This record gives sequence, C-alpha cells and structure tokens, in this order.
Amino acid sequence: MDMTTSIVDNNFRKDVRRCFEQQAYAIPARWLYDRRGSELFEDITELPEYYPTRTETKLLEDHGSDFAKAIGTGRAVIEFGSGSSVKTPHLLHAVKPAAYVPIDISGEFLEHSAAMLQDDFPDLPVYPVEADFMKRVELPDAVADLSKLGFFPGSTIGNMIARSSVDLLRSMRETLGIGSQLLIGMDRIKDPAILVDAYDDSAGVTAQFSLNLLDRINRELDGDIPVEKFRHIAVWNDHYARVEIYLEAQDDVTFTVDGTTHRLTGGKRIHIENSHKFGLCDARLMLRAGGWTPLCEWSDEQDYFTLILAEAHPYKHAP
Ligand code: AVJ
Repeated sequence: MDMTTSIVDNNFRKDVRRCFEQQAYAIPARWLYDRRGSELFEDITELPEYYPTRTETKLLEDHGSDFAKAIGTGRAVIEFGSGSSVKTPHLLHAVKPAAYVPIDISGEFLEHSAAMLQDDFPDLPVYPVEADFMKRVELPDAVADLSKLGFFPGSTIGNMIARSSVDLLRSMRETLGIGSQLLIGMDRIKDPAILVDAYDDSAGVTAQFSLNLLDRINRELDGDIPVEKFRHIAVWNDHYARVEIYLEAQDDVTFTVDGTTHRLTGGKRIHIENSHKFGLCDARLMLRAGGWTPLCEWSDEQDYFTLILAEAHPYKHAP
C-alpha cells in the first residue's frame, strides 16, 4: 500500500484550504514531495538544465581529502532530509563516521535511504530518525557521546524564506550541540537565464513536478481541479534573489476541493515554491545569524554551487 497517498495528512488539508480561502494563493513547497513528486524530483536532478545536483555531487567527490582534514573521522553524521544515494556515500567515505543518522519526516523514504547506504557500508551503524527537523530533534542515545557533523545538501535551505532558514539553522545547532559541525550546500546567484532554465526545463519535467501538486490535491483531498488548465511558471525575483514557481490558471476555472467550491479567474497564480540563491556573503551571514561560524568553502569553477563547512561555537559576549 502506498502510505504517502493513502493517508491524508491533515496539515496538507489545512494548507490547501488556507490557500484558496485567501487572495494571495500559496501552498508550502513541502507538499510537492509525495511518492510521485519525489520520483519526478529524482528525474529533475538528471536534467541537462538542472546543474545543482551534479555540481554538488562533483564537489563531494573531488574534495574528500579536504573534508577528512577539516572534519576528521569518527563523528556521527546526521543528515537532514532523506539521504540521497548519490551524494551521501562520497561524504561517508571521506570522513569515515562512527555512526550515520538520517532524519526525515517520511518513514518510507528513510527506510529506503537507510537500506541503500547499508549495502555500501555494511559495518556502519545506521540509526534512522523519523522527525520534522524544523524543530529540535532528539538524537539516538547511541550517538550521544560522539562529535557530530550535520549534513544538509541540495540547497534545500533555499526553499525557505530567510527567517525560516535562520530558525532552522538554530534548531540544527540545538539538535547537534555546541562544538558540532555542519556541511551545507547552497546554490549561488548566477545569470538569471541559467536559473530560470533550471526551473523550466525544455522536456517539461519540472512542469510535471509542479502540476503534480494539483493532482495530489485531487487524489488526496477529493478535488476536481482541471489540471490541464494550469501552466507552470518560473520567474527570477532579483530583489529576493530567488526563483519563484507558480501555477497559473490559463482560463477562468471552477472546481471543488474537500467539499468547497473555488473560482479562479484566468491569469491568477498559485505560488508553490521559492528557490533562494546566495552570494557568498549572504551565505556566511545567514549561517552566522543561525549560530554557525563558517570555516571553509568549496565551489566549482563556475561558482554555480558552494559547500560550506561551519561550526557551532559557544556564544561569547560581543562588543
Ligand atoms: C530540492 C529545494 C533544492 O530548489 O532546486 C527543483 C527543488 N524544484 N526544481 C530546488 C526544485 C523544482 C529544489 N530543492
């Protein structure tokens, strides 16, 4: 049985209801990742236009000895979000951890990523934790005495607005503790044409990924949204340094969701995702605001993507 689509999450219902009750239509991006959405995202990571995954993976591949030097070995690696089978092994080979703790809100994805890794690292103790990492997470007792390395790849932090990013970084500091390190991936500000192409690919996979949200609403919340009347749109917002993703009604549409009828006039947009991009100083400032002191950075030749290693120092009195 497909648990991700058979059990209707009440928070999903609440967020969708709120979207159509307000005039500024917006649905949190986390709802893009049901089973189908996660599959489509996997396809996105292989698109020629979508450079982040392959650029970050290459950085992880190429800088193993730097990581070993800056991070050391024998830590517990705590990964925030379901472990990607392509990226995590490179890091684990480099820093030879004493334990690996993947944290994800979906037990199903957790099991999958834990099993994938266990194949590659049969002797590595793996302790999956099903939790919402936006709040402080209770780590397993088995890793209590190990020093920690948080791993937050993919520029997932870019999905959040600045205030939420800082909240998250502070929660991670609480979860991991003073003295721990964090290796975080951040997508860089670059030519807007490259950015927009990365979120509006020629094969239309990203459009399918976005439109799947409407299918999901129809499936899980008893909706009849005419999905074919909506179009995926990606725009660069320079002021906020982010790509914004919308679903735009191409016509006046009337539909029912969860027993309530809604009307959208043609041209109305539902805001479904932000993908923030960072200058190096932005990235460093955001980390410091969240209680993390940047130590080292690794970028590709084109400065498309950066991995930053930061440390949670004790708070000191500042002048
Ligand atoms: C998973 C949030 C990093 O913002 O690049 C990709 C999501 N959405 N294409 C990103 C995404 C459309 C992705 N993150």
